[in-house]
Amino acid sequence: MVSYKELGLVNTREMFRKAMDGKYAIAAFNFNNMEQMQAIIQAAVECQSPVILQVSSGARKYANQTLLRYMAQGAVEYAKELGCAIPVTLHLDHGDTFELCKSCIDMGFSSVMIDGSHHSYEENVELTRRVVEYAHQFDVTVEGELGVLAGVEDDVCAEHHTYTRPEEVEDFVSKTGVDSLAISIGTSHGANKFRPEQCTRNEEGILVPPPLRFDILEEIEKRIPGFPIVLHGSSSVPQDKVAIINQYGGALKDAIGIPEEQLRRAATSSVCKINIDSDGRLAMTAAIREVMATKPAEFDPRKYLGPARDSLKELYKHKLINVLGSAGKAL
Ligand code: G3H
Ligand code: 13P
Ligand code: ZN
Repeated sequence: MVSYKELGLVNTREMFRKAMDGKYAIAAFNFNNMEQMQAIIQAAVECQSPVILQVSSGARKYANQTLLRYMAQGAVEYAKELGCAIPVTLHLDHGDTFELCKSCIDMGFSSVMIDGSHHSYEENVELTRRVVEYAHQFDVTVEGELGVLAGVEDDVCAEHHTYTRPEEVEDFVSKTGVDSLAISIGTSHGANKFRPEQCTRNEEGILVPPPLRFDILEEIEKRIPGFPIVLHGSSSVPQDKVAIINQYGGALKDAIGIPEEQLRRAATSSVCKINIDSDGRLAMTAAIREVMATKPAEFDPRKYLGPARDSLKELYKHKLINVLGSAGKAL
């Protein structure tokens, strides 16, 4: 058993309180490898922004949980070396069992998500309550979820959104004791969040997806004022990255994300955490495809992973400064 406090990590409590008061949101970026972790920390340090390093169960299988734990510990030291001891949280994304959450807590994670949203309401309450009871003994914060996002997460796929029912949130929060709540208001996982026929075209001919359900968010805010809300599935799917991928042999079709203005608006509300994974995948893939296609003689991985890392860092900085508004809030 290792405490996250010994690793220099922090839980999300103080981060979210400040984000709520300051009307910004904390970025939760997923990572699976060293270059992603380096880019997240470089961007957060340069922006003096708190950040959440997010690990899915797929990432845990891919990269090995022990290595990821030490990488997060290394990330804290790396930030100091770069000149700014920003607050860093190590968070389990979409934990689906008590055992997985417990294992992460025991390994030094400072925050976990228990995603019981695919269970019945009663089972979700019971599972989440059990995780909270364990986590809080060690001052680890817990994110729960009500409502189901459309799209794929790990092996679970939902065809349609089931929007969060505002009438359930008060009961869920009080029965479970969660520290934050992920809700479903129209975001979804992956790079294909909307079908073109669901969108309208603006004057420049650009597809504009249907807006997020801010009415549901406002209803939730009325029922649990000041309670930290989380948005999953919040990639914006930058079209310049999609174009580079397709230009250099990729086959991404109908890739549409959440417009950044919608996320900017959400960040000023009680939304304190915004999850972004797919945009990082797109930035990395675009950079690697470009090197592979334009410099076919290259075979040193640093020559394509390096540009991918630089591109990721720029993307993350843009998010922290222009979308989430957390730049400068680390101090
Ligand atoms: O919500 C899912 C995240 O994007 C993580 O994806 O399970 O493929 O690592 P993954
Ligand atoms: P995106 O697929 O929109 O990046 O969402 C990531 C996410 O919600 C991770 O939990
Ligand atoms: Zn998610």
